[in-house]
Amino acid sequence: MPVISFATSKGGAGKTSSSIILGTTLCEGADVVLIDADPAARLIRWSKRAPLPPRLSVLQSRGEKHIQDEIAEARARAAFVIVDLEGTASRLNAFVVAESDLVVVPMGDEQQDADDAIETLAMLRQEGRALRRDIPAAVLFCRTKAAVKSRLERAINEQIRGGVATYSVELKTRTAFSALHNVGGTLRDMDPTDVSGVNKAIENAQAFAAETIDMLEGVRNAEPA
Ligand SMILES: Nc1ncnc2c1ncn2[C@@H]1O[C@H](COP(=O)(O)OP(=O)(O)O)[C@@H](O)[C@H]1O
Ligand SMILES: [Mg+2]
Repeated sequence: MPVISFATSKGGAGKTSSSIILGTTLCEGADVVLIDADPAARLIRWSKRAPLPPRLSVLQSRGEKHIQDEIAEARARAAFVIVDLEGTASRLNAFVVAESDLVVVPMGDEQQDADDAIETLAMLRQEGRALRRDIPAAVLFCRTKAAVKSRLERAINEQIRGGVATYSVELKTRTAFSALHNVGGTLRDMDPTDVSGVNKAIENAQAFAAETIDMLEGVRNAEPA
């Protein structure tokens, strides 16, 4: 079933966190496989911290020689396959992107993030040319301030939104999202008296998952019959 990957050349942009947030939300209603294709294996580290929900499985990619088989096998058994990538251009990344129905490009509200996102989108267009197909991609603003944006942040945000496909949902900077890495498991496992804003984070995650499903639907409808 559909393959969603998270890619951007910027380290710390939010790829791994957003993959976890999407995977742990979608698995509430469907079988999901999360593939860690980053040798740093942060997703795997998260997955070992606490028991996983029943409909979610996590696997560590064995690398570029295996990734295509791993994705094919995951596709056959899950409704959604999510791949977390490393932040550098590699053959592994190129193989994953080629298999993706949607590439999510996470970025913050800073100029450096915008430059990296634009560079990543250009790379995706180039990969698409080589494959003779468009690789559907969308920018996801994440780690953005929960409070009102500054004028500069707003300008960067608008510049991106005016130019490229962008999620309307933003994954704000939330303690519950960063806490996922420390405690493992899902947002629903968190005690709202322990971690502030868990319910808002769950709502935010659900809106992100719903918009991802809409995007995949849009991609499917745009495909030639
Ligand atoms: N929406 C968010 N809210 C709070 N912290 C976040 C959010 N997204 C990412 N982070 C934090 O930012 C850091 C980098 O995020 P990560 O997902 O590991 O980026 P990447 O995988 O792109 O390198 C981590 O410490 C993570 O906890
Ligand atoms: Mg990462």
